[in-house]
This record gives sequence, structure tokens and C-alpha cells, in this order.
Amino acid sequence: MSIAVASDHAGYPLKKLIIEYLTEKKIDFHDYGVFSEERVDYPDFGVLVAREVVAGKHQFGIIICGTGIGISMAANKITGARAALCCNEYMAEMARRHNNANLLALGGRTTTIDLAVRMIDVFLNTEFEGGRHTLRVDKIHALTER
Ligand code: RB5
Repeated sequence: MSIAVASDHAGYPLKKLIIEYLTEKKIDFHDYGVFSEERVDYPDFGVLVAREVVAGKHQFGIIICGTGIGISMAANKITGARAALCCNEYMAEMARRHNNANLLALGGRTTTIDLAVRMIDVFLNTEFEGGRHTLRVDKIHALTER
């Protein structure tokens, strides 16, 4: 399993801790930035990770901005990206079980590293249930309205 990770400047402090965690756990990852707290635009990083995951380079992505809101909005513009902004373990579990989320979005200013790690563990280790949920997820991807 390979994970793509990126944040904007507001998510950078949490990303650093997540990178330490993934390294310690020997989980394969690629860090797409940022590498400092210099101001950047979160859509650039949400889209970057979404494209790599949709292209099949990584199974999952973890994307972090201040709240997780903007970066998930941007990532979800990419067809095939299913970014879920999660605030607790239940959301992380259901994002996988029911929504087949492939991107976990976190708020760097709203999430402790302890909670982030618990959500990451649940997210990476929960399978999509399929069945009736497959049709619903397919309906999301069929939406191309302007
Ligand atoms: C940056 O200040 C902040 O707006 C951004 O990280 C994010 O929270 C947007 O959704």
C-alpha cells in the first residue's frame, strides 16, 4: 500500500507529525509537500494528490489544510477522487465502508495528532462494503452538471 500525502501551510505542522507516524509504522508514502509554513494555495495540493491517486500511483491520499474543507473541495473536482473530510474515527470508518473514499482530508488546525493517527489507522484498514453503496458512489461520478 502506498499513500500520497500533502498539505498547505496551515496543514504543514500536522503533516510533519503524520509523516513521522507513517515512517515509524513503515507505511509506504510519498510526501508531495509543502515543506515549510510559507503561504501557498490549498487547491494546488488537493488536486495534485487527487490526480496521483486517481492515476493509480497510490492507493490512498491524505490531504491537510487548516480545516480540511478547502483542500477536500478542490480534490473532489477530479473525477475518481472521493475526498472525505473526517473529524472523528466513525467518519473515517464510514468514509471507507460506505463512500469508498480514497482521500482522507484532515484539518490541521482542528485535529490533534492522536486523533489524526486513529483516523488514519481506521481509514487505511477499513474495506468498502460495495453492494448498494457501489451504485451510489457511481452516481456521484456520473454527475457532470455545471
Ligand atoms: C489557510 O489560511 C486556510 O484558509 C486553509 O488552510 C484552509 O483551511 C481552507 O479551507
